[in-house]
Amino acid sequence: MDASARAKRGTTIKDVADAAGVSVGTVSHVVSGARQVRPATRDRVNAAIAELGFRPNRVARSLTRSRTSTVGMVIPDVANPFFAQLIRGASDALEASDYVVVFGNSDNLATKERRYLVEFIERRVDGMIIAPAANADADQIRDLGEQLPVVLVDRVTPGWLGDLVVGDDQAGMALAVDHLIGQGHRRIALINGEEELSTARARRLGFEQALRARDVAAVAVSDGAFSIESGREQAMAMLAADPRPTAICAGNDLLALGGLQAAHELGFSVPGQLSVMGYDDIAYAKLASPRLTSVSQPGYAIGAAAARLLIERLRDPSGARQEVAIRPSLILRESTAPPARPSAVSLGQ
Ligand code: RIB
Repeated sequence: MDASARAKRGTTIKDVADAAGVSVGTVSHVVSGARQVRPATRDRVNAAIAELGFRPNRVARSLTRSRTSTVGMVIPDVANPFFAQLIRGASDALEASDYVVVFGNSDNLATKERRYLVEFIERRVDGMIIAPAANADADQIRDLGEQLPVVLVDRVTPGWLGDLVVGDDQAGMALAVDHLIGQGHRRIALINGEEELSTARARRLGFEQALRARDVAAVAVSDGAFSIESGREQAMAMLAADPRPTAICAGNDLLALGGLQAAHELGFSVPGQLSVMGYDDIAYAKLASPRLTSVSQPGYAIGAAAARLLIERLRDPSGARQEVAIRPSLILRESTAPPARPSAVSLGQ
């Protein structure tokens, strides 16, 4: 059939299969992400889709799909209290709209995340909320967004054009830096999570831009993982360096707790000889010693907002794309204070 005839009746999945030299089922698997397809085959199918301008008919599919009133959620670290709050906010909102939530913890591994997403498709969930893992399969997530309602939360993957709820990470880190500079700090360092994650990159960018705006150079910027152990390792290295920072900003509270641990092990008093700033304001922040000054991003509200967008999308699949940026706030406690006088600043005295 020539292109003009095809244009009249619209490109079908069979046209794509013929052009790529594969079966209709293979095209369906590539488009839905429901089955693993060899990368070379997937590339051939995607090239044919692009060349023919194929658009999966989501409305027809939604008519043939039976609703299961089930939503799949994948979160990278259920042990991080921020995500526990996010899950709680999303599931409370979804259950209030009579949806059941099926949940998976990806351990921040793209391989585990992919398996959960395929499983959710096979279980015919009505929609998904995904906080992508580091190095997530952006193509799979984008393809899924073509097949059913999907909302990304907290992190965004390259090329995502669907609904999204994130914290305003750059603004949040600017609050932290401005607070420390306002206290008189000029030797400020950043310990951060994986640079593969949009949250870590945005927080580093916010940190660097806020310092530049105040004409202050960063003493050190490091990255690792959003964990207590990584925070301890990164802070140990910084506190052994010269010049030593008088303040450490952490990409999240778990990193900050690791920073407090490092300061304690090296004999630095907080905030007497070192100020430590967290991010998230999880419940542990107010239980730490000293209690942690932190940038609050409300996980519960972020999760509830993601659920709201998903429910709206389920009700109106053709609605305009929505992106919500939740503004963080500064919670002042005792882990930050003006820097000690130079005479009092000595290595671990
Ligand atoms: O996943 C690591 C961090 O990213 C969390 O602590 C939270 O800050 C999220 O934005």
